[in-house]
Amino acid sequence: MQTPAIIGLSAQMNAFSHRHRSQGKTIGFVPTMGALHEGHLSLVKAANASCDVVIVSIFVNPSQFNDPKDFERYPRTVEKDVKLLGEIGCDVVFVPERVEEIYPETYVPFTIDLGNLANVMEGKHRPGHFNGVVNVVSRLFEITEPTHAFFGLKDYQQFLVVDKLIKTRQFPIELIGLPTSRTATGLARSSRNQLLNPIELHQALGLYNMLGKAREQFGKTDVELIKGQVNDFFNSHPEFELEYFELSQGTDLIPITGLGTEAEKPMAFVAARLGKIRLIDNIFLKD
Ligand code: PAJ
Repeated sequence: MQTPAIIGLSAQMNAFSHRHRSQGKTIGFVPTMGALHEGHLSLVKAANASCDVVIVSIFVNPSQFNDPKDFERYPRTVEKDVKLLGEIGCDVVFVPERVEEIYPETYVPFTIDLGNLANVMEGKHRPGHFNGVVNVVSRLFEITEPTHAFFGLKDYQQFLVVDKLIKTRQFPIELIGLPTSRTATGLARSSRNQLLNPIELHQALGLYNMLGKAREQFGKTDVELIKGQVNDFFNSHPEFELEYFELSQGTDLIPITGLGTEAEKPMAFVAARLGKIRLIDNIFLKD
């Protein structure tokens, strides 16, 4: 274990990575927006286990927030985050000092063709969100030059978007997706959970239980009937405002029909608001 160095300047971050790359070392990179929890830390642990050098970035990227209030209230706990990272060990925490370290004045945002990913679920409900993710992740990859990048499958659609980014822009990076870290009761860990009050925290569990029920039904019941039951669930739980519930293939997010026996990597996805906070979760429907 080592106390991480904190780097605030992109040029310095890039020089560090360059030096280690030229020595033939593997660099594991974990991009985050901070307010770290065990889910983030599981990515850092995986990076530590398989790479010579580990870099974690903390940057609340303005360009991926389609709701300015969400950006304002997003928890910022850098000091505590650095302490946590010190406890589990990483080499560098990259905390850009200014937004311009990521997006210099001359920066021109770009888009890539996300195909179906742009039109469903998060793509449909958070206009501009994935463009923001694509640009920030691309810049972070340029600056940190990792050999391996670690992402959570809690944000499954983001994982597919990053996979597409890596292939489109031909980044020489191996992408690793890690399972969703949950509390003992099953709640998916999320930085936004800090913004829930104790009653809401308890209510939030309903989402995972609902996904579990869909999983039990999958393969035995037509997906339309499962969706009907999910609607019943939300009708009887007015604390939630449902954004979407989908049963889709994990390979391409194409919706599943019928019993879904032919579906590739079947998964269920949900997004709902609980009070002011937007929560997402997903589950694999087969082992
Ligand atoms: P953030 O929400 O901070 O998440 C950083 C990474 O942690 C992502 O790869 C996310 O999928 C993963 N993660 C979050 N909760 C998790 C959980 N419960 N279990 C496992 N992994 C989890 O995702 C972002 O930041 C941003 O979009 C970012 C990629 C940093 C670009 O700004």
